[in-house]
Amino acid sequence: MHDLIARAARDLAGTHNAVALTGAGISIESGIPPFRGPGGLWEKIDPMEVAHIDALRRDPHKVWERLIQGMLKVLAKAAPNAAHRGLAALEDLGQLEAVITQNVDGLHQQAGSRDVIEFHGSFAWQRCMTCERRRPSETLDLAVIPPRCECGGILRPDCVFFGEMIPPEHLARAQQLSAGCQVMLTVGTSATVHPAAMLPLIAREAGARVIEINPEPTPLTARTSDYLIPGPAAQVVGDLAAAVAALRTPPA
Ligand code: OAD
Repeated sequence: MHDLIARAARDLAGTHNAVALTGAGISIESGIPPFRGPGGLWEKIDPMEVAHIDALRRDPHKVWERLIQGMLKVLAKAAPNAAHRGLAALEDLGQLEAVITQNVDGLHQQAGSRDVIEFHGSFAWQRCMTCERRRPSETLDLAVIPPRCECGGILRPDCVFFGEMIPPEHLARAQQLSAGCQVMLTVGTSATVHPAAMLPLIAREAGARVIEINPEPTPLTARTSDYLIPGPAAQVVGDLAAAVAALRTPPA
């Protein structure tokens, strides 16, 4: 693994416009369970019953009770790990242009990343399903669910449910960054949910090097990605950022 981290550090040190695509795996070591795989959320609850926009419209109380409330509690306790901090450090070093994240946890921004595209929106904000007014999730009173807006409408997280479109400005910028980067790092994503899963393909077809960081192979492995660094995000990205910083520091 050491050799692969050194290789990725050399690939990154030679670029100024790398892009990271992150998924739930980067936040596992922050205490947030993933969606798929062992301990995944979709093992316990059926996403079509609680994470589809039709389910939210049909029975908001059930979706709040079975999905949103629990996620808000887990997210409130989570803090960034070495992988989030490593990506922020790579941005500071001038190597990484932006992070495109499928996560709704806000941990990249908490770690200091400045240019973050929240591809699937965010749980930090709620939006009224009637008047569209937004308010921070931390101001919610959850004594009665679903919580309501001043207008009487039902509040929902400002994120993308299954069956909803990716906000067009996020989709356009993510596609543009993917088509223009020299290196794409994919970190902790199963690369199974579209259109996010298309982004590494766009990068690859435009000539970028695609480097995967994941303890397990994914559909990208050996097809779209140039190589997989098999390991947990906190260790790999933390070591990678340190290795890039060392390459950038001239010997004394
Ligand atoms: P998944 O839960 O599908 O995949 C998590 C990935 O993290 C898997 O490939 C794991 O092998 C990997 N993993 C596990 N432990 C890890 C670690 N310590 N470090 C790094 N990687 C690790 O999560 P996503 O790919 O983000 O969408 O899922 C994509 C979308 O599916 C989510 O944004 C969400 C979900 O349904 C919506 O809700 C719209």
